[in-house]
Amino acid sequence: MINDLWYKNAVVYCLSVETFMDSNGDGVGDFQGLQRRLDYLAGLGITAIWLMPFQTSPGRDDGYDVSDYYNVDPRYGTLGDFVEFTHGAKQRGIRVLIDLVVNHTSDEHPWFKEARADKDSRYRDWYVWSKTKPENADEGMVFPGVQKSTWTRDKQSGEYYFHRFYDFQPDLNTANPLVQAEILKIMGFWIQLGVSGFRMDAVPFVIAEKGADVKKPREQFEMLRAFREFLQWRKGDSIILAEANVVPKENLEYFGDDGDRMQMMFNFHVNQALFYAMASADTRPLVKAMRDTERRPKTGQWGVFLRNHDELDLGRLTESQRQTVFSAFGPEKDMQLYDRGIRRRLAPMLGGDVRRLKLAYSLMYSLPGTPVLRYGDEIGMGDDLTLPERNCARTPMQWSNEPQGGFTKGEKPVLPVISDGPYGYDHVNVAFQRRDSESMLNWTERMIRMRKEAPEIGWGEFAVIDCDDPGVLILRYEWRRNVLAIIHSFHDKPVEISFRFEDNEDASVLIDILDGHDNHIDQGGKHRMVLEPYGFRWYRSGGLDYLLKRSEV
Ligand code: NOJ
Repeated sequence: MINDLWYKNAVVYCLSVETFMDSNGDGVGDFQGLQRRLDYLAGLGITAIWLMPFQTSPGRDDGYDVSDYYNVDPRYGTLGDFVEFTHGAKQRGIRVLIDLVVNHTSDEHPWFKEARADKDSRYRDWYVWSKTKPENADEGMVFPGVQKSTWTRDKQSGEYYFHRFYDFQPDLNTANPLVQAEILKIMGFWIQLGVSGFRMDAVPFVIAEKGADVKKPREQFEMLRAFREFLQWRKGDSIILAEANVVPKENLEYFGDDGDRMQMMFNFHVNQALFYAMASADTRPLVKAMRDTERRPKTGQWGVFLRNHDELDLGRLTESQRQTVFSAFGPEKDMQLYDRGIRRRLAPMLGGDVRRLKLAYSLMYSLPGTPVLRYGDEIGMGDDLTLPERNCARTPMQWSNEPQGGFTKGEKPVLPVISDGPYGYDHVNVAFQRRDSESMLNWTERMIRMRKEAPEIGWGEFAVIDCDDPGVLILRYEWRRNVLAIIHSFHDKPVEISFRFEDNEDASVLIDILDGHDNHIDQGGKHRMVLEPYGFRWYRSGGLDYLLKRSEV
């Protein structure tokens, strides 16, 4: 199968066109605004943008309710603007991934409108119907507490339709070959317009059997191979990044044993264990999660993230671990969501403590996989808990201290810009941080540069080096004879650690590639060092000529 493995050493930046930059003053972000910010993104050093849904939509689930797959929502611009944008990104060496939301459509999609209006319609079987209310209609809701059921009676046709998510998002009958063909057509369309692939929404539900009689839905994994094959035939370097929050033993089904299904998956397992480690200073569950997700095909890659546009889902932790994370990072009820997660942005979760924020991001850039950062994180943006559900962490980008944070010249932004408190735009904004060499923004730029210069992380094998302290994580990566040792302390006090590389005679001196803390082994052949609270080090072994060395391989 043709392949280009660019995603192995990429840095992905996720943004929503709607809240990034408004060019025409109507309060809604748009492609022309985003286009003007491409140099900013190029300067940050990211190599790929993941665009959240921007196709025509009534916007009841932030675009995850599409009503026309072949268009740009007019509020964001035109297809022409989209192509200008992908072209501009390409000029700067940035690839574009887009959300592919095909588990369901909006109930305003013409397919659904036709399907509900006429039982003989050719689109009837594109959705999932039942004459009576299925017994399990009150099970399996993805948004418990907000969503009441997974089957809703359609007044027009008198039958019930299935919806895994909100009732305005009827599930597509993805087992129907015509629906599958349409999904390929949608992918083909956007590939032709310059994208390098898709973040595929809700993959386990896309491939699950659906229907009133289905008690335990089985996954139709072959569908993933069909998607993959189609993409590779059309454009060999295009990929799918799967949103699939599944247990580790299922991962290989998604990647495919021979790497013939999804190229990338988000590592939800590591994500949750990482937050537990930050809450408890106990990295053992994190190490276990990393080992449990270590096996994957050579071409498969994890997407490593901290926070995304949804709640931080803690559903796979044990009850006591979950409570530990809740009490550390989201103790109040209105910080929590759907009985399983925290809806805040990272900076307020960590109490704005820059040491902890840097620890978290350093981990994101150095855990096995490809980092996926979220717009606004590079400046430490906050949240607005007065907004409903997940909207609290989707507020507009804060560009400057001008009205509306420089996001729009209009007076009514699509969501309120954060204006008060410690995260208000008059002090947390891009313009200020650009001029401050010590800022989070400039630090992020440097970290991204380091990550790109450390392909061992994306390509290599990792080992966990023991230092007898579960509050400190030491990872050793090796790729093409180059070795990286990355150390993170989760402790809130200074700690002294010692460790040795059993098998690497070259590691007598560790060169600090971030700061000046080089380290030499002591007479007993061990490295010893004191780490400051939440301290971290990125080391390369083998001498100062590490850059030179890498270019030799
Ligand atoms: C997962 C997306 O991340 C979330 O934001 C959305 O609500 C659901 N899928 C439904 O599309």
